[in-house]
Amino acid sequence: MAIRISEDGRLIRLETKTSVYQMKTDAFGTLWHTHYGEKTGEDDLSYALYMRQRGHSCNPYEVGMTDRSYSLELIPQELGCFGGSDFRSPALRVRFADGARTLQLRFESCRAENGKYALDALPASYDETGDAQTLTVRLTDAEAKIAVELRYGVFEEADVITRTMRVINESDAPVFLEKAASLCVDFPRGDYELLTFCGRWAKERIPERLPLRQGMNAIGSTRGFSGARFNPSAMLLEQGATETYGKAYGFAFVYSGDFLLEAERDTIVGTRVLLGINPDTFEWKLAPHEAFQTPEALMTFSDSGISGISLRFHRFISRHIVRGTWRAKPRPVLLNNWEGTYFNFDGEKLVQMARRAAEAGVELFVLDDGWFGARDDDKRALGDWTPNEKKLGCTLAELADRIRAEGLQFGLWFEPEAISEDSDLYRAHPDWAVAIPGRKPSLSRYELLLDLSRRDVQDYLIRELSDRIREAKLTYLKWDLNRSLCDRYTASLPAERQGEMPHRYILGTYRVLDALCKAFPDLLIESCASGGSRFDAGMLCYTPQIWTSDDTDPIERLQIQHGTSMIYPVSTMGAHVSASPNHQTGRVTSMKTRATVAMSGTFGYELDATKLTDAETAQMRRQIETFHALYDLLQHGDYYRLLPPDSDSATVWEQAACDGSRALVNIIVHGVRPSPLEKRFLVQGLCDEKNYRISLIDPDDLAKLPPRQQELFGGGILSGRTLRTVGLYVPEGALSREESGDYPSYQILIEQI
Ligand code: GLA
Repeated sequence: MAIRISEDGRLIRLETKTSVYQMKTDAFGTLWHTHYGEKTGEDDLSYALYMRQRGHSCNPYEVGMTDRSYSLELIPQELGCFGGSDFRSPALRVRFADGARTLQLRFESCRAENGKYALDALPASYDETGDAQTLTVRLTDAEAKIAVELRYGVFEEADVITRTMRVINESDAPVFLEKAASLCVDFPRGDYELLTFCGRWAKERIPERLPLRQGMNAIGSTRGFSGARFNPSAMLLEQGATETYGKAYGFAFVYSGDFLLEAERDTIVGTRVLLGINPDTFEWKLAPHEAFQTPEALMTFSDSGISGISLRFHRFISRHIVRGTWRAKPRPVLLNNWEGTYFNFDGEKLVQMARRAAEAGVELFVLDDGWFGARDDDKRALGDWTPNEKKLGCTLAELADRIRAEGLQFGLWFEPEAISEDSDLYRAHPDWAVAIPGRKPSLSRYELLLDLSRRDVQDYLIRELSDRIREAKLTYLKWDLNRSLCDRYTASLPAERQGEMPHRYILGTYRVLDALCKAFPDLLIESCASGGSRFDAGMLCYTPQIWTSDDTDPIERLQIQHGTSMIYPVSTMGAHVSASPNHQTGRVTSMKTRATVAMSGTFGYELDATKLTDAETAQMRRQIETFHALYDLLQHGDYYRLLPPDSDSATVWEQAACDGSRALVNIIVHGVRPSPLEKRFLVQGLCDEKNYRISLIDPDDLAKLPPRQQELFGGGILSGRTLRTVGLYVPEGALSREESGDYPSYQILIEQI
């Protein structure tokens, strides 16, 4: 049993493969958080939490005259609330009809069930393996008549615990929720480091690791969606923890809207981690007997450093977040026309590109922006999802047939949430655009957003997208979003409920996505937001892959994919080979290096295939063959970062089969130097006792190596133990700059013999 409850219901222990999470109700009904981390004995761990009288700490009324050491601000709790004697950042703040805000929640009951809870209208992890159990703990404030249900999904084998909260107004007066975080973990220590994933457009999810300062350490978004500035995920690391060593905690939010992640290092007790909807842009009116459900948050613990967290999240996201047909089915290798043509194409050009791509083995053609309405630039026509037959030279259905006749599946780009002022949709429904009546809204990429908090807008989108999917028999849809949400206002809600609009917008987006997933279960949806600006576990519940970044330069991508890989698996990261010189940076790299990087993502090409030489098309065909041959390893292998992109010499990462039978090592050398230093790395995930054959994937590379290296990389044999402890070095071939560019690459296959 992953969930164990003592007979009196006061001690609750959640156990996963390598972690224990414990909570305990004290004599006053306060629910203590007594442990999260490595496995312990079965003892009640509250004994270890030390409390003594502190100046200016307040005491609950019941103990105020007898025990001055008992203060909520000194107790690690399962749910810190605003207003009582806890002065740390609260997980829950409620404003009552009289303006008061104090909540005093006490334990009421708990129950454990087999299976994983699901959430209404919100994405959540699921379980088809029989691994999960659900714990529900009910807390109540009898005077204020507020009840809270904390729910925990315990995935024993996957080593992940999920948490969500339901707040119920059991009173006869309305109350306003001002803050309702999904996750609250009070650690009894403060000396941690916080690892977050920060960035901007074209530079998403770059890791930043800083010691926790005393006080608040926080990241978040108020842009209406999760955003590129901060990803809704983080790790808390024991000081000195490395990629492979030390204790680490991982957190991720199954939500795509405004979020706030707080790590508050208290000057006395320890660290409180909160993750939830951002309270700065949120308020929710709870009418009598209404309830509010928060999104779900994920947490995991590892005693093998950062990579232990990554491995757990990768497996969990692949098995318990991503769902439907495409969870296990191999994703098609695609050609997207965006960087190949931008808006400048016609139907004939697209067919020629598809023909060339088919020769190289591409399986899916994706027609990006510019196929509809008067969309010949980005100033107009968003919302007019009527095919531009003049530009295409035929109907959309005919174009799709022509592409299919070349042997490719057909996919299409949409930006469903957006609307241009210069569009027929806006002329017909100006009130559907997000704006404050009587005031000019902010523009972004010349566009506005549709008010997806409105049901009529959601229904319109479901109809419109479904029609296009049927008409063109789409097997793939790219769902883009290219601006942030501001000027928040919806005509569908009264003034006192306007604070609900941003969350209702996200619920509306989820409703449209959910309807499409149900109506078209075989449709592959890839989400995108100006590249990777909405990369989160919420979107992954509907869209198995996400375009990682508009930056397609493979050397830039090393950093972006490295950071993204800390939480999200390869099979979720869209990655394409684009033209060289690169459109974003002008950098020249070989097609081999570009493909080596893109293969560690959902693989595709994004260039004008008609401009490729025969030799390049042949190379592309070999790359696609290699990708298919190594598909399971690349997409589902255990992922290890061996040398990071900011190392002086080379970026090296590895995918190893879960049973240790083989591994692929990918290497990008940073710059060609006349007198390079040796670059060594340790191979992970193999069996110590087995022997392995080592070979370079590309035979041309081998011929260019000096003889001793040819012996090693041309079939040399080493034990798993040696590969783990002594490791390999980066081959130093006599590659000419013309052939390899400045960034030579290698792929090394290591197979058990
Ligand atoms: C965004 C996307 C790109 C492309 C363009 C089209 O920037 O990230 O991949 O689809 O929009 O306008």
